[in-house]
Amino acid sequence: MVQAYISGTGFHVPPTRVTNDDLRTRYGLETTDEWIVQRTGIRERRFAEPGVTTSDLALPAARDALARAGLKPSDLDMIIFATLSPDHCFPGAGVYLQRKLCLEGTDEPHFVPALDVRNQCTGFLYGLGCATSMVRSGACRHVLLVGAETHSAALDLSSRGRQVASLFGDGAGAVVVSATEEDRGVRGWYLGADGRHADVLAQKIWDISKRPFIPQDADGWGRVAPEMMWAQMDGKVVFKNAVERMLGVVMQACWSQGIGPADIDLWVFHQANLRINQYVAQQLGLPEEKFVHNIERYGNTTAATIPILLAECERDGKLKRGMKVAMVAFGSGFTWGAAIVDW
Ligand code: ACO
Repeated sequence: MVQAYISGTGFHVPPTRVTNDDLRTRYGLETTDEWIVQRTGIRERRFAEPGVTTSDLALPAARDALARAGLKPSDLDMIIFATLSPDHCFPGAGVYLQRKLCLEGTDEPHFVPALDVRNQCTGFLYGLGCATSMVRSGACRHVLLVGAETHSAALDLSSRGRQVASLFGDGAGAVVVSATEEDRGVRGWYLGADGRHADVLAQKIWDISKRPFIPQDADGWGRVAPEMMWAQMDGKVVFKNAVERMLGVVMQACWSQGIGPADIDLWVFHQANLRINQYVAQQLGLPEEKFVHNIERYGNTTAATIPILLAECERDGKLKRGMKVAMVAFGSGFTWGAAIVDW
């Protein structure tokens, strides 16, 4: 039977570093480095410059992953793009990346299909489930899966927005999911959602039940109230549910695979909050050296956290062929997921 494995990883983060102190001194947020580090583990994040889009961040990550896989854009059978901060409302970021990667500046234009995934922090794992299914079914041989975010453009960088604004950063990660006859690759993925909590962490911007969907002034300009414009979050509810759902989905994944947490060589958690992940790791009895993180340098890059961490671990030699890897995520929706991969 054809298996689906990760043949290449890539990542890209914008160069501008924003430390916790910068949030205070540069943007005027009433916060401290100590407050943010103690509660989240975040020390700094990257912000893209104005003019940079999410598909711009995704492009070098995608090229990096393709190069590591030894492939060209024309080898791709599908692009899957997970993001909550697409370039525009529509079309999705996938077609913008497809244009830059497969159509512009090439003698080999390639009209590969592009699918967008809207599952926030769990978007990469939902995308991995789709990519794996496409490969295993025989529909595709190589699927590019990207998770990328430009949060900095949509954060309320004032004291009013500090609870959310201090958590997020920009970045992009990518993997290529490829077919193989070898006995390796994605062994299983486990996804869940609980729409009863859809409003606990949400950025609404408009209300489609209203006519027009954004209030309009006499000159035709749309006016968006701050509570609609910016993401709203009940942090304590997110924290509690994240811990419960991540533990639950890890147990489900291990049980389904007939393994225990001790059989996993590397744990790649979504990087939302170091305290959430440490609590889950402690409950599972995971040793420190198998539990990797980079949230201190990038903050929460939502759909990009897992592929960025995978790419960094591969380059650092922490992730090697033959290892059993667990990926776990939780996010807005609520949505959650886990995947077990023999690297
Ligand atoms: N700096 C300083 N003070 C702050 C900040 C900040 N950045 N943000 C909030 N505060 C203040 C609040 O205004 C409040 O002040 P008050 O008591 O005068 O009203 C006080 O700190 C306590 O606020 P809480 O919201 O109760 O703080 P809490 O201890 O719950 O920590 C946090 C907030 C860090 C967001 C926590 O709830 C959390 O980590 N939740 C998980 C959220 C998360 O990870 N979301 C990521 C997206 S979802 C995902 O990816 C899983």
